[in-house]
Amino acid sequence: MNIGIDKMGFYSPHLYVDMNELAISRDVDPGKFTVGIGQEKMAVAPLTQDPVSLAANAALEILDETDQEKIDLVIVGTESGVDHSKSIATYIHPLLGLNPQARAFEIKQACYGATAGLQMAKGHIALHPDSKVLVIGTDIARYGLRSSGEVTQGAGAVAMLISREPRVLRLEEHHAYHTEDIMDFWRPTYAENAFVDGKFSNEQYISFFNRVWEQYKAASHLKLAEYEAICFHMPYTKMGLKALRTILEETDEANRDRLLANYEVSKTFNKNIGNIYTASLYLSLLSLLENQEGLPAGARIGMYSYGSGAVGEFFSGILQPDYQKQLHIQRHADLFASRKEISVTEYEEIFQQMLPADGSKADLAINEDPADIVLAGIEHHVRQYVNKK
Ligand code: CAA
Repeated sequence: MNIGIDKMGFYSPHLYVDMNELAISRDVDPGKFTVGIGQEKMAVAPLTQDPVSLAANAALEILDETDQEKIDLVIVGTESGVDHSKSIATYIHPLLGLNPQARAFEIKQACYGATAGLQMAKGHIALHPDSKVLVIGTDIARYGLRSSGEVTQGAGAVAMLISREPRVLRLEEHHAYHTEDIMDFWRPTYAENAFVDGKFSNEQYISFFNRVWEQYKAASHLKLAEYEAICFHMPYTKMGLKALRTILEETDEANRDRLLANYEVSKTFNKNIGNIYTASLYLSLLSLLENQEGLPAGARIGMYSYGSGAVGEFFSGILQPDYQKQLHIQRHADLFASRKEISVTEYEEIFQQMLPADGSKADLAINEDPADIVLAGIEHHVRQYVNKK
């Protein structure tokens, strides 16, 4: 049975900081942030956007009535959940008008969560061919003001509808994954910001990639030349390139050029959003599909997922005929064009704003946020969401 991605939605908050401005304010050469790290703009979430509203806004743009009826499994991957118990998947259920006869839960394994969800969805569709699964990666990446990871923060979500006879990307049958207990990046329950061993995390990202790439080659008998593009989890856009470079010698110059050119396109959105953890790999896929004209149907796209802690996985998919018809190219171009730049000072203020830690009543300024779905406040420890549409 053909199973894979049938639709893809995306949302990121309307505010951003320019990385040149951040570099100047941090007394760093801007080239380090824009070239060395490879980030140009960083999405900033106001209090009215949290991982629940980001997820709901990303899914809202792709679901029609049939989807709402047929979705019987909702999986949200996140590492910035808003509750130790209740899942984001249950929060978004009514916001999206989904059929109550569905399973809904949240998955956590750092940036790997959405990939875990995607693979579970594939298994679910194999058992229940008529159903549809909604998989969402949603995150707000926080390392802290003036930390070395600050330039790699971001905010956003990618939603994917998984079904049989998918119209965007058919997932191939092979898999390669690897798990090890390592401390490269983590966030204890008492911490608002992540802890990271930056250099070690870079090394592990590449080491896991090399391992699962070799495993996948052995399992699939596919060679590098048979890939049109490889999309990477992008904590920052230079990271995937470092991993890609380690295998380029496996093919000839023409193929190398094609893979490098497609890599450049696959980072288009990511370099303007920042790290969105679970959704970064899928934002990179969306960047490639929406910004690279002429990718042929039948082309194979490799996908490398990495979640610190750590789990790595490589898998691949085949682009489907007329996949372009499933995309929202203009809507996403409008989303980027309508964003508002804020100063570093404004970003620092927003970064430090928090909902009352004791759960007491707060009303947020929802009219300043153009998103359809917003967090309106909190009352008796209950988060209040509103769909303004
Ligand atoms: N012009 C151009 N390039 C410059 C430059 C300049 N003026 N100044 C410095 N550079 C280059 C450096 O040469 C370096 O390039 P290479 O990596 O190619 O050697 C690059 O800019 C970065 O410089 P540093 O290594 O000195 O940067 P840093 O020590 O300040 O930190 C970082 C970089 C470790 C990535 C840090 O931002 C960080 O900790 N980020 C968060 C962790 C992370 O993203 N890890 C990735 C793997 S883990 C993962 O993928 C999971 C996840 O999502 C977190």
